[in-house]
Amino acid sequence: MTAQLFSTDKLLNLDPQKLPQHVAVIMDGNGRWAKQRGLPRIEGHRRGANILKEILTNCKDWGINTLTAYAFSTENWGRPLTEVSFLMTLFEKLLIKELKEMNEEGVRIRFIGDLSPLPESLQQEIAHSMAITKNNNAVNFNVAINYGSRLEIVKACQAIAEKVSTGELAPDTIDENTISQYLYTSASPDPDLLIRTSGEMRLSNFLLWQLAYTEMYITDTLWPDFNCSEFRAALAHYQKRDRRFGKVKGS
Ligand code: IPE
Ligand code: IPE
Ligand code: MG
Repeated sequence: MTAQLFSTDKLLNLDPQKLPQHVAVIMDGNGRWAKQRGLPRIEGHRRGANILKEILTNCKDWGINTLTAYAFSTENWGRPLTEVSFLMTLFEKLLIKELKEMNEEGVRIRFIGDLSPLPESLQQEIAHSMAITKNNNAVNFNVAINYGSRLEIVKACQAIAEKVSTGELAPDTIDENTISQYLYTSASPDPDLLIRTSGEMRLSNFLLWQLAYTEMYITDTLWPDFNCSEFRAALAHYQKRDRRFGKVKGS
């Protein structure tokens, strides 16, 4: 049996023709998952990382082109130093451990966010992983680290203003596409589906521009308990949605 047939099989009741092309996830609830078990918060992060790997594999197997995962926000620096340090080390360790397999699987990895304040060694691994996988096309994997949508928009405005001041760009030619091109996500279409775990009904500064017409799916499940069947449930909800984009159906 080919990989393709096998993966389609695992979609069960889902329509392979109506899958989202781009799924974004706010992986929330790691700390609460750990607390419920009397474990330190970092154990939730550790387990959460494994879940992300599974979901990426599902995306690849099912033909979902792009997965964008929120791993660390610009606001998360406000957490205790021990947790922030653990997360930075975890990102680096995971990248070193998983890069070979991800590359063999055809994953193209991109990091989005302001990477400059990250530890030097993590920045090096990030640059290395993006360079090594740049010709891969089985699945696009965007990891948002030190990502904040407002900061992203501010940086886009600065870059555009710079072009205007040098005369390279005329203000009246700036349109929605121009803005999109200056965002960290310029290489990806806008997400079709946003999943947030742990029941929080907010965006927490994630992809504010890009989510304008994205379908949202919020589940009470904590991220470390999210799994393949939960993912399928989110996709099943998505397939029932009527995406009108402001129009009247049939027009
Ligand atoms: C999400 O889980 C992971 C990160 C923000 C890095 P949390 O750490 O926010 O878990 P809760 O929300 O405290 O349960
Ligand atoms: C959003 O989760 C950021 C990530 C998942 C990386 P948070 O836990 O930081 O968001 P709030 O504080 O609940 O809004
Ligand atoms: Mg949280």
